[in-house]
Amino acid sequence: MRMFKEGVDQASGMRRMTNKKPVRVIAIASGKGGVGKTNLSVNLGISFCKLGRKVALLDADMGLANVDILLGLHPKFNLTHVLSGEKTLDEIVLEGPEGLKVLPASSGVQHMAELGTMEQAGIINAFSEFEQDIDVLLVDTAAGIHGGVINFARACQEVLIVVCDEPTSLTDAYALIKLLNRDHGLSRFHIITNMVETLQHGKALYQKLCKVTDHYLDVALYFTGAVPFDTSLRKAVQKQQAVVELSPNSQAALAIKNLAKKINNWPVQRGAGGYLEFFVERLIESSQLGESTG
Ligand SMILES: Nc1ncnc2c1ncn2[C@@H]1O[C@H](COP(=O)(O)OP(=O)(O)OP(=O)(O)O)[C@@H](O)[C@H]1O
Ligand SMILES: [Mg+2]
Repeated sequence: MRMFKEGVDQASGMRRMTNKKPVRVIAIASGKGGVGKTNLSVNLGISFCKLGRKVALLDADMGLANVDILLGLHPKFNLTHVLSGEKTLDEIVLEGPEGLKVLPASSGVQHMAELGTMEQAGIINAFSEFEQDIDVLLVDTAAGIHGGVINFARACQEVLIVVCDEPTSLTDAYALIKLLNRDHGLSRFHIITNMVETLQHGKALYQKLCKVTDHYLDVALYFTGAVPFDTSLRKAVQKQQAVVELSPNSQAALAIKNLAKKINNWPVQRGAGGYLEFFVERLIESSQLGESTG
């Protein structure tokens, strides 16, 4: 990988970011794959936009660039080009529905743990120069509980865990929560149950997870809400559109819009955690811890 622009002043980058307004940074994770993280990220992102928020969605799934596929976008450039100094973050942003700003995934993120000092400065600089005015940064993570997912999750202020009614979804969510708690001190997690039959079913699933975490861990799980299984969502995926756009009155879309309203009312944590630079600092810190979680 080519070195980032010469003469990057990390300190001045950090100072520039410190002057910016708080940005709520939320990771969407699950442990198990295929439970609906990307669909929820995309549809929550668009729903936040509909509520008047300025939202960016970072596709942090290194292997599969899902967000752009779900939205039928065709990125020419991605984070790799930012890290190599060819492009700025602003130059790789794609415009999604309702003005959602999509930051396409890159294989560059895969190498987070191996970044040199110049490249770390490069990321800080890239985010510090990010001109887009945003209130919310959503981070759609990959499946699994490998280093990349952990790094992103622990760098965010809030972690949303998506579970569905499958034993492996619950055990993998538990494994992720345990790792984030035990090795990284995270103790608050928001739970969304997806592909459920009813709200009661969703709540019961949440309670099942709580039962295990209450028994073995010192963590707090908050029930954000449930999204029903809905063929409208599947149809939207096939059409490469967001369900909140294609079928705004479908059960899934209504549920997701409600979740967005609820999350929108979460109090923004003030202090360092409320800013983008905190995200980047933590990301780099995590990547230095690197392999221990990999
Ligand atoms: N509420 C729902 N109702 C019906 N189908 C759903 C729902 N949520 C997700 N799905 C189905 O599950 C598939 C996987 O969803 P998605 O790609 O969002 O999962 P993911 O957790 O991001 O997967 P990965 O771990 O591979 O990144 C979707 O393509 C869709 O077919
Ligand atoms: Mg995904």
